[in-house]
Amino acid sequence: MNGSLEFETRQNATPVAVAEREALLANLGFGRTFTDHMVSISYSDGKGWYDARLEPYAPLRMDPATAVLHYAQSIFEGLKAYRAPDGGVVMFRPDANAARFVRSAERMAMPPLPPELFLHSLRVLIEQDRDWVPGSGESSLYLRPIQYASEVYLGVRPALQYQFLVLASPVGAIFAGGAKPCSIWLERENNRSGPGGTGAAKCGGNYASSLLAQAEAMRHGCEQVVFLDATEHRHFEELGGMNVFFVLGDTLVTPPLTDTILPGITRDSVITLARHRGLTVEERSYSIDEFRSDAASDALTEMFACGTAAVITPIARLLSADGEIVVGDGGSGRVTTSLRSALLDIQYGRAEDEFGWVQ
Ligand code: COI
Repeated sequence: MNGSLEFETRQNATPVAVAEREALLANLGFGRTFTDHMVSISYSDGKGWYDARLEPYAPLRMDPATAVLHYAQSIFEGLKAYRAPDGGVVMFRPDANAARFVRSAERMAMPPLPPELFLHSLRVLIEQDRDWVPGSGESSLYLRPIQYASEVYLGVRPALQYQFLVLASPVGAIFAGGAKPCSIWLERENNRSGPGGTGAAKCGGNYASSLLAQAEAMRHGCEQVVFLDATEHRHFEELGGMNVFFVLGDTLVTPPLTDTILPGITRDSVITLARHRGLTVEERSYSIDEFRSDAASDALTEMFACGTAAVITPIARLLSADGEIVVGDGGSGRVTTSLRSALLDIQYGRAEDEFGWVQ
């Protein structure tokens, strides 16, 4: 329903000047630069989805009693558009993001946006702002769809009004070091999510609950934090904003998808790619005790984080209150590096897309 909603277009009358845009694109970090336009679609109980617009990127005006500001009923997605060798622009598995957005909405008691409307919104924005899609190195256009409770009401119940927005941000690497091996802080007290909670939904609250531990990680010089299961504090779950893999020779181990783990699209792609390349992938619990003994015996050869923003980032060190454990030889690792290149080659259209991921 509403997949064919007509978009009203209002062009930005004062777009960023070409020279300024080129300067911004030449010096990209993560998440601070935004394109000239955004998509906005409203929802209200009774009307459904309505008022689809492509409009100038601009600050929002919000009533202070808007429900999302109080009760955090909000979800988001993250995916990338890439400049292909022929100059065209392609997205990576946007249908998987559309499907996860529906699942996140359902978990957060929100009306799901029809996937075809989600996909159409991305295409409308990319078409309008295609000059913002970077063409160099590992840069791309990060697309950030969000949906939040926009009803002005302080009662605690699912809102009756919502706003869907899509922002676009040209990005380089999320970590300053790019693909350089990073360090991870092991969180032993705070949990990111618990059984029956919202851990598998891409909702803002999961990220908020990771921040205290993330701050601790940064105090210890680490880029990210890894959480353990909330019940026993024994098994690895995921990082603050990405999934985790352990490499034991030719076997990859990653925590199984439960209701406490975000079903990463990069995670899923890594599993498919790895199996296709003859590696074994085990989706199973992996404990901190196993990690310690596998690291000591050198059975653990590599470890990496993966996510849309992080792509595949090697992890060289795990730090905790008990000290530091170096993974493998402390470098980027053969398996990690080759999976990373294989994934990027598909995303940037440099390799054949055998899985139909590039759309
Ligand atoms: C992503 O990789 O897209 C994420 O969601 C991680 C983070 C930037 C929130």
